[in-house]
Amino acid sequence: MGQLSRIGVAIDSDLLDRFDALIARKGYTNRSEAFRDLIRDELVEKASERPDSPVVGTVTLVYDHHVRLLGEKLTEIQHEAYHHVLSTLHVHLDHDHCLEVLVLRGKAAAVRKIADTLISTKGVKHGRLTITTTGAEL
Ligand code: NI
Repeated sequence: MGQLSRIGVAIDSDLLDRFDALIARKGYTNRSEAFRDLIRDELVEKASERPDSPVVGTVTLVYDHHVRLLGEKLTEIQHEAYHHVLSTLHVHLDHDHCLEVLVLRGKAAAVRKIADTLISTKGVKHGRLTITTTGAEL
């Protein structure tokens, strides 16, 4: 962490009340940490929009494993991108459905492309990519 700077922020009282209520619900014990997290979240979000930014992403997939060849297709996509796939978790949700969580690492554009390919595969009922930082730049 760098040197601490103290800043004063002028803010509408009603807006501040709403912010305080929000961060209390989220469990923050002081505004400073909540402000820092908001800033970090925005920085991560903006950085992930640059195609060559190094990122880590998690992809969550829910699919029906009875769909013909679907499991094989999803596995094949992952093997083609093996150097980006750090880990996978498979959960048998019920008799029909599987949930997979993949941890991907690489440049933002590559991570998005792998996630899009997996999520758009026919038979995947729901998929979502969450991009975060490798932590090195925060
Ligand atoms: Ni399963």
